[in-house]
Amino acid sequence: MARQGSSFQDELNLYFKARFSLINVVTVEEERVLKEIADACSSRGRPVYSWDIADGFVPLTEATGEVGRPARDPVTALEIIVKLEQDAVFVLKDFHRMWERNPQVVRKLKNVVQTLKRTRKNIIVTSSRNYIPEELADQVYVIDFEPPDFEGMKQILDTFTRIPNVRIDLTDLGREKLARSALGLTANQAQRVFSKAIVTKGSLDEQDIDLVTQEKKSIIRASGALEFFAATETIEQVGGLDVLKQWLRSRENCFSQQAADYGLLPPKGLLLVGIPGTGKSLTAKVVSGLWRQPLIRLDMGAVFGSLVGQSEENIRRALRLAETVSPCVLWIDEVEKGIADTGGDSGTGSRVFGTLLSWMEDKQKPVFVVCTANNISRIPPEFSRAGRFDAIFFLDLPTRRERREIFGVQLLKRRPVIDQFDLDALAEASSGYVGSEIEQAVVAAMVRAFNDGAREFNTADILRVITPPVEIVPLSSSQKDNIERLRQWLIEGRARSASFPEVNSALQEQVRVPGFAAAPDLELDD
Ligand SMILES: Nc1ncnc2c1ncn2[C@@H]1O[C@H](COP(=O)(O)OP(=O)(O)OP(=O)(O)O)[C@@H](O)[C@H]1O
Ligand SMILES: [Mg+2]
Repeated sequence: MARQGSSFQDELNLYFKARFSLINVVTVEEERVLKEIADACSSRGRPVYSWDIADGFVPLTEATGEVGRPARDPVTALEIIVKLEQDAVFVLKDFHRMWERNPQVVRKLKNVVQTLKRTRKNIIVTSSRNYIPEELADQVYVIDFEPPDFEGMKQILDTFTRIPNVRIDLTDLGREKLARSALGLTANQAQRVFSKAIVTKGSLDEQDIDLVTQEKKSIIRASGALEFFAATETIEQVGGLDVLKQWLRSRENCFSQQAADYGLLPPKGLLLVGIPGTGKSLTAKVVSGLWRQPLIRLDMGAVFGSLVGQSEENIRRALRLAETVSPCVLWIDEVEKGIADTGGDSGTGSRVFGTLLSWMEDKQKPVFVVCTANNISRIPPEFSRAGRFDAIFFLDLPTRRERREIFGVQLLKRRPVIDQFDLDALAEASSGYVGSEIEQAVVAAMVRAFNDGAREFNTADILRVITPPVEIVPLSSSQKDNIERLRQWLIEGRARSASFPEVNSALQEQVRVPGFAAAPDLELDD
């Protein structure tokens, strides 16, 4: 994946040798790519031209001659490439814009590529995003041009240290830290942030790492699909789910240097499946606070762009961005939506998923992925394959003890002291209710009491909401079939119970959904 510096040049030369006539380099760093291409070609004495709609052909290296004809429309430019009697490399800037809109260009390019196969000419299209028309899909080789690596970033930083009158307060280690913190930024972005530090303070030092982090935050904000999420929830605000909570607590220190020295790899990720309203999203938010890592949410809906190919590019860019702020928690809420929301084009959904999967497989950076899912029937089996995630937890209807805890949590959120509430009675009466419904019930009781002369609400007010005739109908009675279907994951051993250490005890203690699958000899409640 990572292609830069000499490795990018080596790769390019390889493709030239293999006579790939049409190469698409995807990058926002046009300047850097042009330099790399020019360097790769000059070392072999090959002429290079760039072309764009404003300036036509421009020689890129000293050894390259002039084309001699202005050609500012893409079809003429392609004709000139065919006719020119030089085995040159032609870099067509932003050519994706031409092939996006103009079928004539697509057709012409297809013809030209056929002709070029018999020559030693190559066309390189640079574009800021990966979009290739279907007709050209098997003619183009796509290369992702990665932002500067650690060595590249150190070189950029070094160019600043050579500027006269700039004070550099950096030890060797500090210099490395600052360069490392800027990884993931493009060369231009890194230069901008270093310049900003120098302009504001007249010096560069370790404190500028904060500035780099801020820059990354603003890039993430601008990316659309990612957002920094300020989560304030703590693990004490999660009722029940003891196994899941213990799992999280026991991994609190697994990101430390000590753990790495011990030979532990940082945890990779968690998949939370289960019944709506049981605390999946809540848990995702809690992880970041517990592990003291920033929380970034990836919005699958925003990943899917309108053009074919754009969605994959979007997710690739988003994941790369997330890596730049690592260690962090990347929260992908309702991950199955990624597949469902693509409407007619189901292929895009699975390709985006494929991109996500292979990234998870290869990722080197400590980005802990928390995926949540409701509709597991939409999740392809390879997603939940063993080893992909560190654990897959199933969040079931809360048991009586768990409901007691959840009532406690929800009441404590709203009142400093809750001794006056009968938690046992509330837990007893709320069989089949999930966390979010318990929260709703508490709020409904408060509204009722408030409208009744703003008196303090009490246990009876809450009970009135959840005992017949109920005010809040739990999903477990309106969507029984769905819940039984979801539970298959637990029964088949595809997921662990978030509440019980063993599947057997989870199944035994399972809250039966009244009126469904309840054999006469089974209790209706836990
Ligand atoms: N186990 C729990 N302990 C305490 N509060 C809970 C619990 N589960 C749910 N809640 C309350 O319900 C709210 C909604 O829960 P959450 O969004 O985490 O559910 P979810 O499982 O993600 O549901 P969905 O599948 O609909 O997205 C939480 O913000 C919290 O206030
Ligand atoms: Mg949720």
